[in-house]
Amino acid sequence: MSRGDRKIDIAVLASGSGTNLEAIARAIDDGEVPARIALVLSDNPDAFALERARKRGIPTRVVLLSDYPDRSSYDRAIVAALEEAGVDLVVLAGYMKLAGPEFVRAFKGRIMNIHPALLPSFPGTQGVRDTLEHGVKVSGVTVHFVDEGLDTGPIIVQEAVPVEEGDDEETLHNRIHQAEYRQYPRAVRLFAEGRLEIDGRKVRVIPGSTEERG
Ligand code: GAR
Repeated sequence: MSRGDRKIDIAVLASGSGTNLEAIARAIDDGEVPARIALVLSDNPDAFALERARKRGIPTRVVLLSDYPDRSSYDRAIVAALEEAGVDLVVLAGYMKLAGPEFVRAFKGRIMNIHPALLPSFPGTQGVRDTLEHGVKVSGVTVHFVDEGLDTGPIIVQEAVPVEEGDDEETLHNRIHQAEYRQYPRAVRLFAEGRLEIDGRKVRVIPGSTEERG
């Protein structure tokens, strides 16, 4: 199961600001994650994530849904770009499209997503807003493998984040982001070290360091 001493190649897919991309890139720079970002791909030409990638000299691609006749040819174009880049792992970081069946099949067990809530609560694109509207007192972050459903895949890591009196979407999302910057690099590291085993709905983390032995 170990991927040995080799660094894995990852692609990061982002539609927006890309602060999670930045957190992963920093963790890689700091030697905490044995990986290399081979590609940043976006469905949005104006995504600031692309700018962040360019500044770091990371290759970028924009794949526009409007350039394709249907969703499945769009997904095939994404798969082709990822295969061309030769990536081992696909990291969805604020990528606001559902990965279609062909995409999921092509990278089965090799696509991760981060979600700003404790799944299975509050899936979808408005997780933080839905959390506040429901009035829960504890929210959090989930990193999970991607299956064909909406935020339904096997959960890798989670961290709870308190909802505080007077929070609005911005203040709660800012607090959640801080947890994301801890948990996404951690999940990518566990994958890169070959320490994640998917067994049905469950993801087993193979102990390998002081942190994970608990
Ligand atoms: C993150 O909070 C991520 O959890 C969320 O988008 C934000 C992207 O921030 N993703 C979803 O809501 C997916 N349904 P970033 O562009 O600064 O990394």
